[in-house]
Amino acid sequence: MNRFPREFADILSRRGRRLLEGGEPAVAGALGRTQFVALSGAVDAAKARAARGLLEAALAPHLVALERGIPPESITGQTRNHQERLIKTVRVRTAYLERRGSRAWQAAERIGLVAMTGSDTWHRFAEMLAGRALDRRSGRQVLCYGPGDYAGPHTDHHPEDPRARDGYVDMHLTLAGPGVAHQWLVYAEGGHFRHVLDVNTAGGITAYRLPFWHYTTPLVAKPGRERTAHRWVVLGTFRYAAA
Ligand SMILES: [Fe+2]
Repeated sequence: MNRFPREFADILSRRGRRLLEGGEPAVAGALGRTQFVALSGAVDAAKARAARGLLEAALAPHLVALERGIPPESITGQTRNHQERLIKTVRVRTAYLERRGSRAWQAAERIGLVAMTGSDTWHRFAEMLAGRALDRRSGRQVLCYGPGDYAGPHTDHHPEDPRARDGYVDMHLTLAGPGVAHQWLVYAEGGHFRHVLDVNTAGGITAYRLPFWHYTTPLVAKPGRERTAHRWVVLGTFRYAAA
């Protein structure tokens, strides 16, 4: 495989294609009932491996560091007990894929990632999970977590965006390499951080009905595998279709 398939459906396993057609009632429309869904076995394992290889070869040179640490003032400026405030902290490398002319975009286009994440079945899979119509135009981004990379607690709420302030949907295709020992997603339900999910998957699909509180723990590599321990995430952001 020297390119991503043109259609997302063609990277899916038999189960993935059944899901796409709405064949699993527990999953179809799940984001209408819950804020988070994780699917395993929906992506063909060999194609997931090949896809990670494509990202390593073509996109790794175009990643930029995204780093926002804990502000020291969050402690030094705190004047009252139990009133701490934390911004969204993060350390990860990313390719935003927003500007067509950018080198990251061109690299993503060469390996077919732009086409696949613009395909009918990429959109339809997200709609199947959302259980409602989504805007045909979606945003795309690639993330690459290496050892120590993480995202602190945050909501992904965008109250300044009229099309997102009432919620939106993110869909992630996770392609973790064999050097990763662990990385976890922790997310809230009912006012507490209640759920812990292993996101060290090669071909896992996760979907979020945002906003809600969640964080991703620092990636830990297997001993001696630090250099190649990467968890890649291909991320699609979908607004709801206008009524
Ligand atoms: Fe997030």
